[in-house]
Amino acid sequence: MMRYSSAKDVLLCFLCVFVLLNGIHAAWTEEPGSLILGCGLGEGGAKDADGRQWSPDDKFLGSQGGSITSRASYQDPSLTSEVPYMSARFFKSEATYKFPVQPDKRYWLRLHFYPSLYDGFNPSDSYFSLTANGVTLLSNFSASTICDALSQAYIDREYSLAPLNSDTLALTFKPSDQYKGTFAFVNGIQLIQMPDLFDSGSLIGYADQTMDVKSLNLQTMFRLNVGGQYISPTQDSGLTRMWYDDTPYLYGAATGVTNQAEKNVQIDYQTMPQYIAPPDVYSTSRSMGSDKDVNMGFNLTWIFQVDPNSMYLARLHFCDYYFSKVNEIVFDIFVNNQTAQAQADVIGWTGGKGVPTYKDYVIYVQDGPGDEMLWLALHPAPGTKPEYYDAILNGVEIFKLNDTDLSGPNPLLSDLLIKRQQEEEDGFTNHQIYHSQAVIGGAAGGAAGFAFMAVICVAAYKKKKRAPGSDGHTSWLPIYLNSHFSKSSSSGNSISSANLFAMAQGLCRYFSLQEIKQATNNFDESNVIGVGGFGKVYKGVVDNGMKVAIKRSNPQSEQGVNEFQTEIEMLSKLRHKHLVSLIGFCEENDEMCLVYDYMALGTMREHLYKGNKPMSTLPWKQRLEICIGAAKGLHYLHTGAKYTIIHRDVKTTNILLDENWSAKVSDFGLSKTGPNMNNGHVSTVVKGSFGYLDPEYFRRQQLTEKSDVYSFGVVLFEALCARPVLNPNLPKEQVSLAEWALICKKKGTLEDIIDPCLKGKINPESLAKFVDTAEKCLSDHGADRPSMNDLLWNLEFALNLQENVEGGSTHSASVEKSEFEEISLGDNNMERHYKNLSLGSEDDLSIESSENSDAVFSQLVSPKGR
Ligand SMILES: *[C@@H]1O[C@H](CO)[C@@H](O)[C@H](O)[C@H]1NC(C)=O
Ligand SMILES: *[C@@H]1O[C@H](CO)[C@@H](O)[C@H](O)[C@H]1NC(C)=O
Ligand SMILES: *[C@@H]1O[C@H](CO)[C@@H](O)[C@H](O)[C@H]1NC(C)=O
Ligand SMILES: *[C@@H]1O[C@H](CO)[C@@H](O)[C@H](O)[C@H]1NC(C)=O
Ligand SMILES: *[C@@H]1O[C@H](CO)[C@@H](O)[C@H](O)[C@H]1NC(C)=O
Ligand SMILES: *[C@@H]1O[C@H](CO)[C@@H](O)[C@H](O)[C@H]1NC(C)=O
Repeated sequence: MMRYSSAKDVLLCFLCVFVLLNGIHAAWTEEPGSLILGCGLGEGGAKDADGRQWSPDDKFLGSQGGSITSRASYQDPSLTSEVPYMSARFFKSEATYKFPVQPDKRYWLRLHFYPSLYDGFNPSDSYFSLTANGVTLLSNFSASTICDALSQAYIDREYSLAPLNSDTLALTFKPSDQYKGTFAFVNGIQLIQMPDLFDSGSLIGYADQTMDVKSLNLQTMFRLNVGGQYISPTQDSGLTRMWYDDTPYLYGAATGVTNQAEKNVQIDYQTMPQYIAPPDVYSTSRSMGSDKDVNMGFNLTWIFQVDPNSMYLARLHFCDYYFSKVNEIVFDIFVNNQTAQAQADVIGWTGGKGVPTYKDYVIYVQDGPGDEMLWLALHPAPGTKPEYYDAILNGVEIFKLNDTDLSGPNPLLSDLLIKRQQEEEDGFTNHQIYHSQAVIGGAAGGAAGFAFMAVICVAAYKKKKRAPGSDGHTSWLPIYLNSHFSKSSSSGNSISSANLFAMAQGLCRYFSLQEIKQATNNFDESNVIGVGGFGKVYKGVVDNGMKVAIKRSNPQSEQGVNEFQTEIEMLSKLRHKHLVSLIGFCEENDEMCLVYDYMALGTMREHLYKGNKPMSTLPWKQRLEICIGAAKGLHYLHTGAKYTIIHRDVKTTNILLDENWSAKVSDFGLSKTGPNMNNGHVSTVVKGSFGYLDPEYFRRQQLTEKSDVYSFGVVLFEALCARPVLNPNLPKEQVSLAEWALICKKKGTLEDIIDPCLKGKINPESLAKFVDTAEKCLSDHGADRPSMNDLLWNLEFALNLQENVEGGSTHSASVEKSEFEEISLGDNNMERHYKNLSLGSEDDLSIESSENSDAVFSQLVSPKGR
């Protein structure tokens, strides 16, 4: 969501920055001529939630008739400000705004669209084009289609217009002539003079050639604070840009580690203007990790979905605030598998620690299969014998370039929900759905800023065959069966059992291949309980009677060693009664197996409903106990370990039940992972499942444990209503369980949607407590949601109330401390990260578990980082 602060705040903020930086290099301050227009606002304009003044737009339209203003009839909760979204101007025929501009200056043009319902206008009927002095910015544009595709209420677009050689900018809205009765509309327009941010970029694939960008128009596609957090317009260095977290765009399981500059390190801009990027961008970064062998074996990769057949400028921001010598870290930069930069050495470029720089690369993305993606990859360059094999990146911006036409197609939301539903019914979950989700997630991530994106490929990604041998039961298998193991190059990248053994020493057990074979009757097919991207999962018995689930990597697949290792490290350190545990592993003769607790009763979901039909089996008290167990597991992830661990995919298929109906959370930890095994195509990104996703995470890209609380709220309603979280066969307002439950709660009609088999069997006080708690979890803002601890307390209370009636054993409504026993996870600071890292050191042979966990816990949010 856009946030603006008053000019005074901005000024104050700049003053502070000036003081800090001895005032040498100016941040940019907005020119007085900036136009911030709320379309359809009345005389005098209005202020937005942050106090920024929006002026009326009518005087720039001249005397043209044909435009109508209207207010939206509904304010979506995701709009944190009424202005400019709630008012709009509609054009039934072509209309042109004329803005005065300085002919030799570059301008930001930001457009805001809120396709809600307006009096007499339904924006889903709106298709239009937009040109700026003849440059096409939009064509056949449907804000409503894009918002639907991205599940957001509004979109913002940002363009940077080259100097116009004219003192007027004519912005022309034209309803499409392909559709009868269609119209154009816009809610807000910002036209802000900007500094010369662009010069030229080296043309990838053409040695030493550069491309002049000065005279081109740009559309901002992505702007990421790599390894850092969302930066709001008021925190930007004067250009009111938004910078997003990079995690949704990371590719593969190996996502490196994030780093933050020590407090005493100052970002020293030297001659570079500070408006290039704010200090927050340069003082956080992502690097590969602490193990040189691991680093040599993978590329630190981001992927971006773009329109094919177009030129892109990738601006990479670098700043090394840890090392200060040349040839300490040297790496290659690849864009779309071509070398953009060989042997990048940040200190070599900047001359010192804490000095930022940026590099511009231009690439043409073609129109072939797989070309709707822009890949950015970093890999250590051993050629110069650097001291460490690592790579680093602090920020990235991607702009689409063109001189005449920046428009792209609308996304196709081809029956996504319906397909998803079918898959649900088939009982075929994560493995397939995950991919489409991921694509959508990535799209939404980008769109939270600029709302561009072709989700078109979703359909293609979804055309995956069902894995042979799947018995429709994959959903309840333990951790990661359904996650994806990248076909990362395994050339010479094998870790020895000795290493693994050292790594997991004392934490989990090593099984010999012989033991595993015995347990599974030599991998007998009759013991297969599921199939995933990784390979098959077998039921087995070890130690004369202990039941286990054994995940075996397919010997033919080039399964990533890293992922195997990472999973062991991560899971072996997390132990809790309500988490599915990794018992041990085996690595021998190219066989890799992971051994887990066996969860005899499968998933929570399959005991609630199948397809759209309730199963009508579980009594209320048992449902409460399951919810409480799961809440305890999540509470442990959030607070019991040294770092906050955010599950990111809380849902009823990730809550498993053992033979005694004790709930255990699975699939935590390693969440970002890899490619579709069949075609090597992409897809990881935002983790989470439709129907459970925290709306705030989409809006702000700030992931907190409250995102899990939101998803858990959906789980609670699922337990109560025994229906799918998304059911597209229902009327629109009922499709999403989360939304529908909230509506019913408000109307007081919740009774009607409760699982029929529970009717009359729930103590009304218990129900009221439960529903209030679930409702709070679904609060729009994370801050309003309860912590897992409060949640647990409330659920125990609801259980108590129920037991008082049923006369069950009295349950103490307290959180048992002993369940939160802590196992140290190692320290994630740079000091330790680089300790003992030098190349060729003998120490590298044994991996010390606590240090190496850095790589594993890139998922974890360090407490100070929030
Ligand atoms: C500009 O856009 C047009 C139309 O999409 C396209 O044909 C042309 O190749 C683009 N030019 C560049 C430099 O990308
Ligand atoms: C880059 O390489 C990867 C892996 O080999 C492949 O999947 C992808 O399609 C390639 N991308 C381009 C743009 O060629
Ligand atoms: C890294 O990416 C480059 C360019 O796509 C590719 O040639 C190389 O094989 C990749 N390396 C690894 C270890 O994946
Ligand atoms: C315009 O967009 C709609 C919706 O995305 C699409 O169905 C239609 O084919 C597009 N029309 C043209 C002419 O591109
Ligand atoms: C289930 O309960 C029985 C009896 O209390 C106990 O012996 C058994 O170990 C429990 N099973 C699990 C998996 O905890
Ligand atoms: C590794 O770190 C330990 C503990 O800090 C230290 O004693 C040892 O000398 C270091 N080894 C190398 C090779 O730097």
